[in-house]
Amino acid sequence: MLAAALFTFACSVGVGTKTPENHPKLNWQNCASKGSCSQVSGEVTMDSNWRWTHDGNGKNCYDGNTWISSLCPDDKTCSDKCVLDGAEYQATYGIQSNGTALTLKFVTHGSYSTNIGSRLYLLKDKSTYYVFKLNNKEFTFSVDVSKLPCGLNGALYFVEMDADGGKAKYAGAKPGAEYGLGYCDAQCPSDLKFINGEANSEGWKPQSGDKNAGNGKYGSCCSEMDVWESNSQATALTPHVCKTTGQQRCSGKSECGGQDGQDRFAGLCDEDGCDFNNWRMGDKTFFGPGLIVDTKSPFVVVTQFYGSPVTEIRRKYVQNGKVIENSKSNIPGIDATAAISDHFCEQQKKAFGDTNDFKNKGGFAKLGQVFDRGMVLVLSLWDDHQVAMLWLDSTYPTNKDKSQPGVDRGPCPTSSGKPDDVESASADATVVYGNIKFGALDSTY
Ligand SMILES: *[C@@H]1O[C@H](CO)[C@@H](O)[C@H](O)[C@H]1NC(C)=O
Repeated sequence: MLAAALFTFACSVGVGTKTPENHPKLNWQNCASKGSCSQVSGEVTMDSNWRWTHDGNGKNCYDGNTWISSLCPDDKTCSDKCVLDGAEYQATYGIQSNGTALTLKFVTHGSYSTNIGSRLYLLKDKSTYYVFKLNNKEFTFSVDVSKLPCGLNGALYFVEMDADGGKAKYAGAKPGAEYGLGYCDAQCPSDLKFINGEANSEGWKPQSGDKNAGNGKYGSCCSEMDVWESNSQATALTPHVCKTTGQQRCSGKSECGGQDGQDRFAGLCDEDGCDFNNWRMGDKTFFGPGLIVDTKSPFVVVTQFYGSPVTEIRRKYVQNGKVIENSKSNIPGIDATAAISDHFCEQQKKAFGDTNDFKNKGGFAKLGQVFDRGMVLVLSLWDDHQVAMLWLDSTYPTNKDKSQPGVDRGPCPTSSGKPDDVESASADATVVYGNIKFGALDSTY
């Protein structure tokens, strides 16, 4: 009996051996003050959701958008039978690193499958995510969005994941951070195949419009700091807070929230966030091809988490050696500010007729606590099977008049961004992130 109990406890997702896991290097700089930066060796790992999961001998546990019922009749059996394997970063996922810059390709035709987008995490060593404590700090990187059309989102952001991918907390999370386990964000995503070291296979519903994805009965919630969600046409800087401390598995609308109506506000997290999108905030001359921040060529993005604990999030750009201050909001009822603060969120939500769920879930006070505990850096490229990224770069919601405050978010047509269209027409789209620097305010640019 004791042996049986121990055996049950030992059940875990395993590590596959079909493909060696060699993390691409991504070195960055830690800056004490301006001109005083030291190099930090880093590497990135692919999120577990993109990885091949099989029975250890190469028989799929998950194929297309469904679990294979013989191996996965329930979550426990599935977790025990299935392994996560290594990733061929370039051949399968279109990921390339030259040491200081990482290129993510949108569609990659591999020998076994076609890969769409990717999500990677910065590690401090082979099996631990780097944890960034953001209060009173500055995060800087260069980006090339010139090859990202309407509907794509090159996203660089922080989430409050466990540094070890949940390995210490959850007996089943053995592959840990090395294999990209432990993801969570403020949408409480339920499309994750593994949460808390267990398969999310029970009650899995394949997504009708997505050949690769489905949704399980659990989601995974945590606070999220969207430093960068952009394509060549629009950009957004957005904090989201959750009532959670760190990553928390959710189930049902009262925890996970939902896509629609009031469900959005019912869960643990502020799904909407408090966003600063320059176009939406009334300046259509600032960000885009040929504009003040010219998205036809690379530029540097500086984000300052001002105050300890943080009270304001500020943004600057550097392009062709010139520092460019963020545009100021130009909307009746909102101060002409270029920064995000509780006051800005209050005014913006009111002017746009939106619910201030950021405030309801804790606002900047909560964000400061999250920043103090620390967050993991995510680098991703994705398209949007729910609403075609219209919330970022177009008129949204589409049933509202564009002249209504907050509805006009970018120049893209409401017909743009459909996954079928962008995955065929813009398969070769890429985003390049590089020259990451982190440190004291005004030290990195
Ligand atoms: C890596 O790529 C980036 C972006 O393309 C480029 O700016 C940088 O010079 C490259 N570094 C090396 C060492 O080749």
